[in-house]
Amino acid sequence: MRALIIGCGYVGEALGQRLIALGHEVTGIRRSSQHNNRLAKLGIRPLNLDITQEREFEKLDTHYDQVVIAVSPGRGGNEAYQKVFGLGVNHITKWLQRNAPTSVVFISSTSVYRQKNAEWVQEDIADIPENITSKILWEAEQKISTIEQAVTILRSSGIYGPGRSHLFRQFMDGNATIEGNGDRYLNMVHRDDLAEAITHSITNKDKLCGTFNITDDEPVKQLAFFKWLSKITNRPMPVFGPEPDPTTRKRGITNKRVSNKLFKEILGFQYNYPTFREGLIEELENWKAMP
Ligand SMILES: NC(=O)c1ccc[n+]([C@@H]2O[C@H](COP(=O)([O-])OP(=O)(O)OC[C@H]3O[C@@H](n4cnc5c(N)ncnc54)[C@H](OP(=O)(O)O)[C@@H]3O)[C@@H](O)[C@H]2O)c1
Repeated sequence: MRALIIGCGYVGEALGQRLIALGHEVTGIRRSSQHNNRLAKLGIRPLNLDITQEREFEKLDTHYDQVVIAVSPGRGGNEAYQKVFGLGVNHITKWLQRNAPTSVVFISSTSVYRQKNAEWVQEDIADIPENITSKILWEAEQKISTIEQAVTILRSSGIYGPGRSHLFRQFMDGNATIEGNGDRYLNMVHRDDLAEAITHSITNKDKLCGTFNITDDEPVKQLAFFKWLSKITNRPMPVFGPEPDPTTRKRGITNKRVSNKLFKEILGFQYNYPTFREGLIEELENWKAMP
């Protein structure tokens, strides 16, 4: 089977390696060629194209059986987001209509849920997001879903894992702050669980079509998160700081507990990192091993 990962970054690389181990031929798209050698060493065929330029899709000259869209503008404001998830996703949608793969997985985000009162949120919540970037992403979900093939939308919570655990790093560097009274919930998922969930979606395509949250079992209040870190590392708690200003946060400020029940029920999916604890104990070991 030929798989194409559009946006072969942090999650895409981990996914590519899994798919190769399962015998798939994997091509990974990035805009820049900077990481081509690394991708090639992993066995992923690198392809450089910019999804915001429609003509660049001419570089996709082969049929792909599976397509995973895991693209992210990275840094940049609303404009960059609109370019990738508006214009770029329009181009991907048109290309998918011509290419007709057997399965399509779109990685979205739990930032599309606008809840602010610590409610549990499930996939059937139909409110349109408030925040601009979340609304752009939600519109991208709608757009991709218009193609004829079955589409699986996986809404990921905050991704952490090797080399990408921002709060952990801030805490270890003594730069973390507790926002307000620390009552806001964090929803997280380990990168490898997300990569595994995508792999499950591809390999169980007959069962899966629709929208699923991918997040670990335990949303945790910021205060409780730092208390746990402080206890296991024997380091002081971060200082308290002001509540964040929603206008400076790309994904706005929400406070919710995201449920992962549906994907587990339908697929019997098991998380290797059911809470932040398992993942961060590994990160702590990596941190201690650093020169
Ligand atoms: N990070 C989180 O906490 C989080 C939370 C929820 C959902 N998500 C979603 O999870 C998915 C994977 O995230 P990630 O952390 O793996 O992202 P990432 O490491 O930033 O990788 C994103 C990839 O997209 C590529 N890309 C960006 N703009 C492009 C363009 N115009 N044309 C072609 N490729 C382009 C980048 O290539 P270049 O580097 O060459 O530009 C990069 O390879 C994304 O869909 C993201 O929205 C992330």
